[in-house]
Amino acid sequence: MNIDSLCKFYGGFTALDNVSLGIRRGEFLTLLGPSGSGKTTLLMSIAGFVSPDRGDILLDGRSIGHLPPEQRNFGMVFQGYALFPHMTVYDNVAFPLKVRKRPAAEIKQKVDAALDLVQLASRADRYPRQLSGGQQQRVALARAMVFTPHLLLLDEPLSALDKKLRAELQDELKRLHRRVGLTFIYVTHDQDEALSMSDRIVVMRDGRVVQQGSPTELYDRPATTFVADFLGKSNFLRGKVDAHVAGGFVLARQGVRITQASADGKAPAVGTDVVVALRPEKIGLARDDAPADNRLKGVVSEWNYFGSQFRLVVDTLEFGAVAVVIPAWKCGEPPAIGEPLSLAWDRDAGTLVADA
Ligand SMILES: Nc1ncnc2c1ncn2[C@@H]1O[C@H](COP(=O)(O)OP(=O)(O)O)[C@@H](O)[C@H]1O
Ligand SMILES: [Mg+2]
Repeated sequence: MNIDSLCKFYGGFTALDNVSLGIRRGEFLTLLGPSGSGKTTLLMSIAGFVSPDRGDILLDGRSIGHLPPEQRNFGMVFQGYALFPHMTVYDNVAFPLKVRKRPAAEIKQKVDAALDLVQLASRADRYPRQLSGGQQQRVALARAMVFTPHLLLLDEPLSALDKKLRAELQDELKRLHRRVGLTFIYVTHDQDEALSMSDRIVVMRDGRVVQQGSPTELYDRPATTFVADFLGKSNFLRGKVDAHVAGGFVLARQGVRITQASADGKAPAVGTDVVVALRPEKIGLARDDAPADNRLKGVVSEWNYFGSQFRLVVDTLEFGAVAVVIPAWKCGEPPAIGEPLSLAWDRDAGTLVADA
């Protein structure tokens, strides 16, 4: 499917600003962005419930922009997409097939298969109120897939569930996606959900697509400070390019020089203000004899223990507070507030990002 230059305006407000996007058959694509970034508007435009003011949506090369929702043949699961309370689980799932006037034998066979898929065959005669929140969402999923839609649109389907149930359903959704090979377009504002579930993530902000790529591409090579900050945590080292070195450059600030690799050998001109994003877990605590491209002295101002890791804040003279995550087993003695130490990282640990 191709989304081509989609715009949506509400009065003078731009909810979708020239969004173009290719969606591959069978992929798990996630739209990720803060609240108000246009995710639901984009999904509703794909579904046909919102009419874009400009642009088009193409399925297998044909425009579907003018088709009403029911002719697009897309399955949908929304956060508050309630089941019909007066219908049994079975009848809820059968509903899309009855609307399509499928023969009774086919309905029975498909509903049974869909309920098997979400492991609710034994609950077919229950009513929604007799099910847990997670079970209800699985019924909604079965109902969205029972008519073999072209693709499945999911708008924050798990956000009403508690953390544990959510993690279970995340795993289940992923398994389901692998098993049925259907295209999923999944909306979330939860970065962990996006990272763990998606084949590809599209990051949105203010109605625009700001970056797209696989979870590892986005996490390891964010293009902007916004993406680096939204997907995980990051330190931002700001300084001026002081010199070029083989495969990278030197960033200087207040007399400290940091060597940074540059992707595909393109280093910004000497004198340019730059920002390097550096993930907390890519920084180590250096003993003086350990080799590292970069070293920075600081003083521990905060530390927290999380069982598997320590998270430190180290105050540095040149770059301010630097967040550091150390696997607990590597840490030895817990650090002490006020303890001076030296941070170390290699030149390819950080990423040059645009300040946007
Ligand atoms: N029907 C509408 N009328 C006016 N503004 C709207 C309407 N629907 C959405 N918006 C605005 O468009 C922006 C994007 O909304 P939405 O797509 O729901 O964002 P998200 O799903 O990313 O939280 C928001 O600022 C929202 O207030
Ligand atoms: Mg939304």
